[in-house]
Amino acid sequence: MKTLGMQPSRRQFIQQLGLGVAWLGLATNASLVFANRTAILPFRQNAASLWLHYNENSLGMSPNALSAAKYAIERYGNRYPSASVDEFKVKLADHHQVKPEQLIFGNGSTEVLRAIATYSAQQNATMIEPSPTFGALKGYCKSENLNVIQVPVGQNFEMNIAAMKKRAMAQTGLVLINICNPNNPTGNIIDFTTMFDWINNAPETHLFLLDEAYFDYAQANARYKSGLDLINQGKDNVVISRTFSKVHGMAGMRMGYGIATVKTANKIKPFAAGFNLSAAGIAAASAALDDKLFYKKSIEYNQLSKSILVDTLNELELEYVPSDTNFILHRIGSPLADYAEHMQQNGVRVGRKMTLDDRWNRVSLGTPDEMKMFSQTLKAFRQKGWV
Ligand SMILES: Cc1ncc(COP(=O)(O)O)c(C=O)c1O
Repeated sequence: MKTLGMQPSRRQFIQQLGLGVAWLGLATNASLVFANRTAILPFRQNAASLWLHYNENSLGMSPNALSAAKYAIERYGNRYPSASVDEFKVKLADHHQVKPEQLIFGNGSTEVLRAIATYSAQQNATMIEPSPTFGALKGYCKSENLNVIQVPVGQNFEMNIAAMKKRAMAQTGLVLINICNPNNPTGNIIDFTTMFDWINNAPETHLFLLDEAYFDYAQANARYKSGLDLINQGKDNVVISRTFSKVHGMAGMRMGYGIATVKTANKIKPFAAGFNLSAAGIAAASAALDDKLFYKKSIEYNQLSKSILVDTLNELELEYVPSDTNFILHRIGSPLADYAEHMQQNGVRVGRKMTLDDRWNRVSLGTPDEMKMFSQTLKAFRQKGWV
């Protein structure tokens, strides 16, 4: 069998967590949560469809977050949210132990990326990023006519840091370096020693955007560290972005933010839209920060789902990239478009094109129940020779 790395098997994982057979109960509970969610989202009511193509959280959001959002709509839906933004800013700053002025809010973290792209365009910057990676920043930079340099990832989908560094050093003026860590669509992390060494030795004209949308899933890995450590050390050339879309299950609420030193945040903030958070989003995010139980459950379910999928990929001897996120990039045995169509016919949404090589699929980790269904579909595809 050929895999790109070791991931714990489902059995090992369950033993590690001491969950034993309890996961079966959790999985049943998960489908109930999912059923409730579809009930309030009529445009997704096709219960046969597994939505595994956008790296969302199939659990939905914390019930407390949902109640808070409903209340906020009823009570404050007719008011601009300026006071609640200020309160939320203090709460989120406390959560991260930073100053409120260090935060840059966005209607989803993609809006923070947009603000950074616009700021960089004012400086006539060059943007450098690995390929493949999350595409939003590139799109925004191109719309601002920025020069974009993409550096292909190396073997095993590792970022080619040496090549990126070299390209960055060859530029003049501001260089915006986009590092999605963990990376999307590959799911792997950069060892923090490598990344910190690069940033600590880079000129101040190199501005590092560390997109940490999947931070929560990676933090248990001893080789992973958030760029927040560098910002706390006073590094003005680092901005991190975070989102409530993933572990908190709030992709539809559009709540994201960036963190930088006060000096850097003040440069970027003017390019973010004013009043870009909704009353409902703020209330839900605030409740989500308090709901530690849901947060923990969300991460544990994700681990369990990952181990179910990893077991299946191992059984089918399908190569995959070890993931510290809520998705896995894995090998398939037929062209991606055919695979996606077959999956769609079987009620599964996957198969967005993410890599140049046509034989890789990125699948999001749904609930454990969903991953069991997906695994069954994969096994049925093997019988037909499609994977
Ligand atoms: C790396 C990365 N950054 C940002 C986003 C978008 O996050 P948001 O929903 O906060 O705009 C995604 C969404 O998939 C992502 O994968």
